[in-house]
Amino acid sequence: MKKVEKMTVVSHRSIAKNIYECSLSGELVELMARPGQFVHLRVSDNTIPTLRRPISICSVDHQKNAFTMVYRVEGIGTHALSQKRTGDQVDVLGPLGHGFPISGLKEKSHCLLTGGGIGVPPLYELAKQLTKQGHSVATVLGFRSKEDVFYEAEFSELGATYVATEDGTLGERGFVTDVIATNRLSGDRYYACGPRPMLRAIENNMTIPGFLSLEERMGCGVGACLACVCDVKNEEGYRKVCSDGPVFKAGEVVI
Ligand SMILES: Cc1cc2nc3c(=O)[nH]c(=O)nc-3n(C[C@H](O)[C@H](O)[C@H](O)COP(=O)(O)OP(=O)(O)OC[C@H]3O[C@@H](n4cnc5c(N)ncnc54)[C@H](O)[C@@H]3O)c2cc1C
Ligand code: FES
Repeated sequence: MKKVEKMTVVSHRSIAKNIYECSLSGELVELMARPGQFVHLRVSDNTIPTLRRPISICSVDHQKNAFTMVYRVEGIGTHALSQKRTGDQVDVLGPLGHGFPISGLKEKSHCLLTGGGIGVPPLYELAKQLTKQGHSVATVLGFRSKEDVFYEAEFSELGATYVATEDGTLGERGFVTDVIATNRLSGDRYYACGPRPMLRAIENNMTIPGFLSLEERMGCGVGACLACVCDVKNEEGYRKVCSDGPVFKAGEVVI
């Protein structure tokens, strides 16, 4: 079930270069259950930008009726969002998409979570829910440089956390796949969200079952416009990232 609601900004702050953490409260939070789902935001009251913008649900607090998003200012939509102050309202459609499946794991499984840049946020609620269920997690966070890094401390509270920066200014130098290889990280299942080349490399290198979350350009967000389609592997047809995804089983769609 999904709905549209004008939600209230309860906190909003900058946490890294061009990265903001924004919490919104409202009744819609009651519908947020699965990690990896997203919301579709109307960021201004006028017609610019016309389209809503998709942002992942990073963390949910049912007691406070609030959820948190972490986003990077990219263009007109996310810049408009960054101007919202505490007490302002944001038009939210959600929760959308099928998130990361967390069932089907044997007791006390070990999961490997890998996030790149703005692919990191949905993994946080996932890590919270997996550890709450008694599983353990190791997380690999990939960024370009030290100034881009966020949520290292938050993930570290939940399990072993590795940071990779491309320029080596924080953590291990290189890509997330280098960190996985160097530290021989594996587990019973993996989850990943990030840029396509990262997802492709992970899918090609991992030998355990996994799930990948795609962050495509979107139009309607609800399966009506076909702006977000991707091809299916090994058969004809396509999947819509917004309504069939954004999470797909590794090997299901062409990355
Ligand atoms: C499921 C999902 C989850 C996401 N989660 C996050 C998250 O947690 N944090 C985060 O920072 N980002 C996330 N993103 C990415 C985020 O949605 C984009 O960064 C954001 O939409 C950029 O909007 P903008 O207006 O700032 O940039 P724009 O200025 O719109 O972006 C640059 C270019 O993209 C084009 N464009 C923008 N939107 C569309 C569209 N819908 N259709 C076609 N062209 C378009 C513009 O025309 C422009 O040329 C997610 C995306 C998806 C699909
Ligand atoms: S965004 Fe319209 S069908 Fe997916």
